[in-house]
This record gives sequence, C-alpha cells and structure tokens, in this order.
Amino acid sequence: MLKGKNIILGVTASIAAYKTAILTRLLVKAGASVRVVMTPASKEFITPLTLSVLSKSPVLSEFTKNDQGEWNNHVELGLWADLMVIAPCSANTLAKMSSGICDNLLMAVYLSARCPVFVAPAMDLDMLKHPSTTENLSKLKSWGVHILTPGFGELASGLIGEGRMAEPEEIISGLEKELNPENPLKGKKVLVTAGPTFEAIDPVRFIGNHSSGKMGFALAEELARNGADVKLVCGPNNLHTTEARIQRVDVTSAEEMYQACISAYAETDVAILAAAVADFRPVHTATTKIKKKPGQAPVLELEQTTDILAELGKRKSGKQILIGFALETDSEIENAKAKLERKNLDFIVLNSLRDPGAGFGTDQNKISIIDRNNNLSNFELKDKSAVAVDIVDRIKSLLSSR
Ligand code: CTP
Repeated sequence: MLKGKNIILGVTASIAAYKTAILTRLLVKAGASVRVVMTPASKEFITPLTLSVLSKSPVLSEFTKNDQGEWNNHVELGLWADLMVIAPCSANTLAKMSSGICDNLLMAVYLSARCPVFVAPAMDLDMLKHPSTTENLSKLKSWGVHILTPGFGELASGLIGEGRMAEPEEIISGLEKELNPENPLKGKKVLVTAGPTFEAIDPVRFIGNHSSGKMGFALAEELARNGADVKLVCGPNNLHTTEARIQRVDVTSAEEMYQACISAYAETDVAILAAAVADFRPVHTATTKIKKKPGQAPVLELEQTTDILAELGKRKSGKQILIGFALETDSEIENAKAKLERKNLDFIVLNSLRDPGAGFGTDQNKISIIDRNNNLSNFELKDKSAVAVDIVDRIKSLLSSR
C-alpha cells in the first residue's frame, strides 16, 4: 500500500523519537520515499545522521541550507507528499499545529501540506490529559488530522498510563488504512469477548483463570482503528481502551457474558470470542462466607456453563462471521479443527501454550489460523497488537470476498 508513496516524516522533541529510526526503516522497506523533517530540539533525542542514512535522503530542519543562503522549500515539500506523519508529536507541536504557529520548518511544511496528516502523540500522562492538549487534539481531529492513539504503559517519567507513542507497526498500519478507504470493516458491528470469567463460590472466593484479556483488547483496538463499531464484553481485568469506537461492557461470570453476547448478537456482523470463559461453575453459591471447620473440607459440586461460542454458532446467519479461539495442549490442530466444525465457525485461532513468551498474561502470542477449507496459516511470535493486525487482516479478506 505504501509502495511508491511520498511520505514526510516529522520528528519532534520526545524520547519516543528513538523509535523513529525503526519507523523510517519500515516505511522505506514498504517502498515509500521518505523525507525526514526534524524540529531543532528533536535532534537532542536522535541524530539527523541516523535518520538520513535510514531514509536515504538528507534530513531537513532549518528554513535555509547552512551558510549557502538557499532555502528549504517547504511549499514544494508540502505538495510533494502523499502523506505526512509527525511521530513522535510533542504537546508543544500539537499546540502549535492547532494555533497555526509557524516558527520552524516542520510547522511550515505542515501548514503547506495538502495531503492527509497523521500525528502520533507522545508525552507524559498528565500532559496528554491536560485540557489544553485534549482541546488541541479535538481541534486537529475536527480539521481532519488523523490521531494515532497513544498507548498505555510505562512512560519515560516512570509513571504508568496513557501517553506512549503508537508502535511503529501500528503507525504503518494506520497509514495503510488511510490509503485504502474501502476498508470492509468500516461501519461494521463487531462483538469481541475478552478476559476471564469469575464463578463465585461464596462472596469472597471464586473459580477463575489466568487470562489477562490483552489479546481481546488488542483485537478491539485494531478493529476500531479499522472503522468498526466494537462492543467489547470483558471479564475482570486491569486494562483500558483508547479508541472511541469501542463500547465496553464489563461482566463477571460466564452467565453474564453469555447474556451480554446473546442480546448483542442479532445486530452483529462479526463476532470474535477471545475470552477464557469458565467451563464449570459451582452449582450453589453460598450467600455468606464458607467457614472452615476442623478436619473438614467442603466438596464443590460443579455444573457446566453455557458455551457462548457454540450458542452463537447455532444462531449464526449466512451473513455473519464467527471466530473462536482454541487453547490446546495436545493434538492441537485436530482438536482445533473439530472445534471449528462443532461450533460452526468461519475460522479458529489456535493459541500456543508451548512457546515461551506466548499465552496467558504475556504481551506476546503465537497463533495459527485454521479456516473452513482446512487451510492452516502459522504466524511468528509477536506482540499481541501485531497478532491482532494479522487476525483483523484475515477478517477483512473474508468480508471482501463476500
Ligand atoms: N468459549 C465460550 N464459552 C464457553 C467456553 C468457551 O464462548 N463457556 C469460547 C472461547 O471464548 C473460545 C472457544 O470457546 O473462543 C474455545 O474455548 P476452549 O476453552 O479452548 O474450548 P472448549 O469449547 O471449552 O473445549 P475444550 O474444553 O474441549 O477444550
């Protein structure tokens, strides 16, 4: 998608500028021509030499070329570009963009650009939440500037929160989506389940599992970035959503998750069930805390919960797409294929518990996808956000082929 495209990459003063080297490399690898324009202060964070070598072009920063009295033509650059992306974009640059301040070459190029402009904000969490930044972002949004939502995590200050620059891979996929306005997910209603369920034994104890919800949340974010309206039904977790198109429904038990999914399903175009739903729950839930008695341990009688995925599979219409996950410890492929048939799925995502670094609670996952024609695709170990891109790409091809 980026092949042959002219891209201006603006760099501003933020520690996330170190990731710009990777972003430049990815853009060039994708076949784009890249011109890097740096604000003077950003050179404290990454050298122009690094970015000029990687972009295969001189880096621009000043209005004039050193001591030659020749200007760097910002108008020409603005017209040359098919896309402009400012990554990282500091709070200062956002403020300048929203008020038309033109005190460096990058701002002059921005004001001259006729192409779509993207910004990848990167700053500390309080700066991001400050009313001035929020207002600047919504003003820029209303002018059509695309905001590449910052991520949640540990920040340079040591604080934990929102403000990390979107990862280079996410920035690339954001640009590609703009170049492909015919996104088949645009306006589609997508249901995603995520996280564990807790089945109460008494008011204090429950049966649960180690699912963190990270895979389901990454899917919801990626689907929303593709223009889908996402309903995210999630069990107990510590995660946050960033995309405005995600409607979050918090539940605790398998039964609550089932009710939330069933009531949404008739209106759903695509459903992806990534939650680790408890298969069993106590038949009786004590209303008060079960007390210890000397020499006695209570015996828990369990019953099966409703298989949400199988229920949706029974109700699936010809137009709907249904995707499930499978976590297997043996005969992985055969078991996953059987699950795909039994639950009437369009494809199934097989999670690996064998690969170190993949699976419950981790930031990475290694998946295989099996479709109805028994095609098997194996993917590398990747960040869950990159895994989400692979899964969502597969959904887009399915939608396009219908
Ligand atoms: N699932 C569900 N409702 C349940 C159990 C599972 O919707 N009560 C969904 C999960 O979200 C996942 C898929 O079913 O998408 C597979 O879950 P998994 O636990 O691997 O399979 P099970 O159907 O429980 O089969 P088994 O226990 O035989 O492995």
